[in-house]
Amino acid sequence: MGDDQALVQTLRDMAWLATPMALRVAATLRLADQFGDAGATVTELAERTSTSAPALTRVLAHLVTLTVLTHTNGVYHLTELGRQLRSDADNELLLELDINSAVGRAELAYVELEHAVRTGEAAYPHRYGRDFWSDLAETPALRESFDAKMTRRFQAIAPQIAQRYDWSRFATIVDVGGGQGAVLSAILRAHPSVRGQLVDLPATAARAAEEFAAAGLTDRATAVAGSFFEPLPAGADAYLLSDILHDWDDANVHEILTRCAEAAGTAGTILIVEAVHGLGAHTAIDLSMLVFFGGRERTLDEFATLIGAHGLQLKSVAEIADNRTLLEVTIS
Ligand SMILES: C[S@@+](CC[C@H](N)C(=O)[O-])C[C@H]1O[C@@H](n2cnc3c(N)ncnc32)[C@H](O)[C@@H]1O
Repeated sequence: MGDDQALVQTLRDMAWLATPMALRVAATLRLADQFGDAGATVTELAERTSTSAPALTRVLAHLVTLTVLTHTNGVYHLTELGRQLRSDADNELLLELDINSAVGRAELAYVELEHAVRTGEAAYPHRYGRDFWSDLAETPALRESFDAKMTRRFQAIAPQIAQRYDWSRFATIVDVGGGQGAVLSAILRAHPSVRGQLVDLPATAARAAEEFAAAGLTDRATAVAGSFFEPLPAGADAYLLSDILHDWDDANVHEILTRCAEAAGTAGTILIVEAVHGLGAHTAIDLSMLVFFGGRERTLDEFATLIGAHGLQLKSVAEIADNRTLLEVTIS
């Protein structure tokens, strides 16, 4: 193969959708859960996943080329790589690859990336007819899978956030859009003098309340259903926005900052935790923010401009966790 032909093949291998879709369908079917120690034939696999054996054979053949499976004498086995797709694997792959999960479904909106690039708008509503958050509000299973994914992705990061900053400076913290409470729970566990209140959409706030109860934190943590586009609980010492602003375009970020600043009054602090563009934010996540939400991973300068428009001061910037930066914003 000539040099150019090799380059063409490299690009083709990157671009063909066969590989990501074969992996996503395997995840959706829970294919990796269907192999015993003895392996399985295509007939057994098709029966166990309620699929067409001839069509499944072709997916399996592609998975063999990816070294996800081996195929010997009509029997398929999972490789070590393939075992990562099992439900009992200690990772979050199924929560993002299953096309019926919130993130897996959102990833499929990438087929509308051209629309996003031409218009600067999210691709998700173009594909599904409503925005991501409305979709979650209408479909409890999507909401549950999104919340589970958010909690899982922060399993290692939440304790880092709790330990690498002196949260005990604040008597009270409002975690704005706090999800199921993984970050706030970690902060409260690490800093026994701090009390916290979490605000999120109703189903998620209810789950957060259950998590606080399970963690024995009900004396110091509460969860309230609400929107960060409405007035927030007032008078806390700190307002935390963890991975919130990148979900939104600048106009909505201004709204959220306005609500935080109003609630904080003159004495409060706003703490933004995000992956910052230029400080480790991933280009693929940045594109996903565009596709899913019309949001973005922002540079420090972009944050400074947004914050400055409210007369707020960017007081300090520090790496707080793997791939997460803390921006401390004061009101005056
Ligand atoms: C990317 S998750 C981050 C969750 C959490 N802060 C964390 O870092 O794990 C975004 C959160 O914003 C919440 N959210 C979205 N729209 C909201 C709104 N209008 N008001 C309050 N929360 C909202 C979602 O329910 C979700 O929990």
